[in-house]
Amino acid sequence: MNILLLGSGGREHALAWKLAQSPLCDRLYAAPGNPGIGQEAELVALDPADHGAVTAFCARARVGLVVIGPEAPLVDGLADSLRAAGLAVFGPSRAAARLEGSKGFTKDLCARAGIPTAGYVRAASLEAASAALAGFALPVVLKADGLAAGKGVVIAQTREDAEAALAEMFAGQFGAAGSEVVIEEFLEGEEVSFFALTDGATIVPFGSAQDHKRVGEGDTGPNTGGMGAYSPARVLTPLLEGEVIERIVAPTVRAMREAGTPYSGVLYAGLMLTREGPKLIEYNARFGDPECQVLMLRLESDLAELLLACAENRLGNGTTPKFSKDAALTVVMAAEGYPGTPKKGGPIRDLAAAEATGAKVFHAGTAAADGEIVAAGGRVLNVTARGRSVGEARAKAYRAVGAIDFPDGFCRRDIGWRELAREAKAPA
Ligand code: AMP
Ligand code: GLY
Repeated sequence: MNILLLGSGGREHALAWKLAQSPLCDRLYAAPGNPGIGQEAELVALDPADHGAVTAFCARARVGLVVIGPEAPLVDGLADSLRAAGLAVFGPSRAAARLEGSKGFTKDLCARAGIPTAGYVRAASLEAASAALAGFALPVVLKADGLAAGKGVVIAQTREDAEAALAEMFAGQFGAAGSEVVIEEFLEGEEVSFFALTDGATIVPFGSAQDHKRVGEGDTGPNTGGMGAYSPARVLTPLLEGEVIERIVAPTVRAMREAGTPYSGVLYAGLMLTREGPKLIEYNARFGDPECQVLMLRLESDLAELLLACAENRLGNGTTPKFSKDAALTVVMAAEGYPGTPKKGGPIRDLAAAEATGAKVFHAGTAAADGEIVAAGGRVLNVTARGRSVGEARAKAYRAVGAIDFPDGFCRRDIGWRELAREAKAPA
């Protein structure tokens, strides 16, 4: 079977690396890809926004499975266009991707289905939002309704900050994504990511991870797409995971099916482990980035087989993913300036030396220039390693980071700190 993978980040490099290992995979194509993905797949110059061009390529190249990595083409309905042409697609329809594409949609679904989540109000004007603000304690969370590349969330500590943030959102700071906002109660606890594959009926747990969203050590500074992750997240005990499936994921999948918009693909639940139990922060309609990188390092099953079974509504036949008991940890190397404007074009050397230490280096934002690899994005590399514990995986990952010559790059030095503290008390 030929497979087409869409996307160009570290998540897609990890997916490509794993798909290429599958005996089911004859030719792996990737669009638009990056130089790291190019080591695993044949890169094709396709624009995922051009549904006709993607469909025509699939026919020409006899593609048997399309895997859509990022959220934008999902929310844009690429999966619908491809399915209409008879293709097997891993990734939800436009209607189902609203679980990520509209925060208000998801909050209303949670309210109807009794799914635990932060209390909220939707507001479509600054006046309505300001009026609703009075009903919330501080800090209060303000979210642009639509996709805002992870930047549409403000946690305001004062009423003045909240008013100012709302004014900016309604003034168009996030474009159309901010024409409606969700005001939310602030949840206290530890954050964890849980993944499940679903074909709209069957739910297959697909691992847990913990991300590090802030740019600075000790979880300080501005929000990013994620500066590092590890898996599994032991704070999500089997008991809690069962509760998350039963009280959050299963009612969501059921509600989507009953609405006539079944969700098919990977459902990524961002959760807060509160004193009252796990609560949903948000859904994503795709794998996490960089959470996917650590999941792929631990996955022992055939990824192509799993994604195809999901695309063909065959998860009920007993396809169960097997993950290594090992932990995996990834350190994001970003370009100076990130999450603001990153410095582009900085040379990156000694990637082979880094991998010779036993780590895997996924390319997130790189380009090839004059036979060299250079930085071409905010998050540039994901240096990923496995070990018997998070501590061991982390030591290996940072050893590999030390081997990389990337003068314009930086990384957090404390990825995995919560788990390290736990392992010190109770060894894995
Ligand atoms: P999101 O873009 O929805 O993932 O939000 C970005 C980050 O803001 C999350 O990862 C949380 O750390 C934080 N956040 C979002 N909603 C809440 C909430 N209701 N309470 C506390 N923190 C939140
Ligand atoms: N790492 C967070 C995300 O992929 O949304």
